[in-house]
Amino acid sequence: MSADSGPSSADASRPGRLRHGRQTLAIPGPSVMPDRVLAAMATAMPNIYEGELVEISDEVFERLPALARTTTAESFVIMSNGHGPWQMAVCNTMSRGDKVLALESGHFAIAWGEMAEMSGVDVEILDGSLRDPVDPEALKSRLLADTNHEIKAVLCVQTDTGTSVRNDVPALRKAIDDAGHPALFMVDCIASLGCEPFEMDAWGVDLMVSASQKGLMVPPGLGFLWASPKAMAAYESADLKVGYLDWDQRTNVNAHYELYSGTPPISHLYAMREAMNIIDEEGGLEAVWERHAILASAVRAAVETWATPGGIELNITNPAARSDAVTTVLTGSIDPDRLRDICEQEAALTLGLGIGSFDGRAFRIGHMGHLNPPMLLGALATIEAGLIALDAPMGGSGVAAAAGVIGRSFAI
Ligand SMILES: Cc1ncc(COP(=O)(O)O)c(C=O)c1O
Repeated sequence: MSADSGPSSADASRPGRLRHGRQTLAIPGPSVMPDRVLAAMATAMPNIYEGELVEISDEVFERLPALARTTTAESFVIMSNGHGPWQMAVCNTMSRGDKVLALESGHFAIAWGEMAEMSGVDVEILDGSLRDPVDPEALKSRLLADTNHEIKAVLCVQTDTGTSVRNDVPALRKAIDDAGHPALFMVDCIASLGCEPFEMDAWGVDLMVSASQKGLMVPPGLGFLWASPKAMAAYESADLKVGYLDWDQRTNVNAHYELYSGTPPISHLYAMREAMNIIDEEGGLEAVWERHAILASAVRAAVETWATPGGIELNITNPAARSDAVTTVLTGSIDPDRLRDICEQEAALTLGLGIGSFDGRAFRIGHMGHLNPPMLLGALATIEAGLIALDAPMGGSGVAAAAGVIGRSFAI
């Protein structure tokens, strides 16, 4: 064997010869589940009328307000993905023909609006950009023009998982207040809860929705909704109510399973309690947010170092508006799907694909939930190896830059 054809050379006849060992998931949800959470789910079905399950259910409900940073909102848990609380928000607060304003900053607020439209609500989109957060001034102007207060709710996402923008929720609240507008302010934290700072009460959010499978580290299957007293008051006049999702049925309860409109999501409740324990053991939400911020800046350092004119680039231009949960990477002349395929087939690394108009021109790195430096650096190093395999233009070693960020964060 000559030096050039040694074991490190490419061998087209043996694809995937390195992909043994653990599969690594770096998509923006579902995220990597802690073994402890998965183990907590592997229990026999208990009595649902009394005993341990009732205690766990009560405990989860007691701890939910703290996750959303609220002391005043009502918490709801649905057996669903994120679409469940989207639907619950609309059908408990709106009436046929009401108008809602969905704030565009990517895919998800618009998709929420489309769902509202199917329920009979009139939806207007506040046009935005796919590279920037929602402009609070544009929101204020639109609301000032709504002199008859036809807009009943403003729908926005904190983090859009498609573009990886993080909207400035307090600034949007201020825009609504400055316009003196009474619309309900509804925020989707499906990609951001447990990853990025969020303060429901302090930020004046009227209703917040989330789901289990991203920052909350529980498999898909639990939808969450927190409704402030103002949102709960809107229920009284809403006429789109749906039995299974009805707030009244889920709050006026005589037994804990009525909180779920039927049999509780038993395994997921065990998982949720364990995930909440993990968050507390880390030091609470502040510690979790800090870890996400450090790991996310390592990702951004890598991408910015790989960047070249016409090549790799961060999608979100304003550094303050970049998510700590997910990063959308534009790839210019490089085929992102080929890069993802190489990472998947040669190295067992699953990356997120570009969605919507990012199809074929971006990939996404999920860095949410149960994640530490070797998991993240392994993923970044594998992406860099994929770029090398493609002979892609690169500004420098993103791995070195990411390791620098992480190394400088170590407590020595
Ligand atoms: C920000 C955001 N909102 C809503 C959804 C929809 O959630 P689900 O797919 O769980 O219904 C997603 C899913 O990725 C999301 O990222």
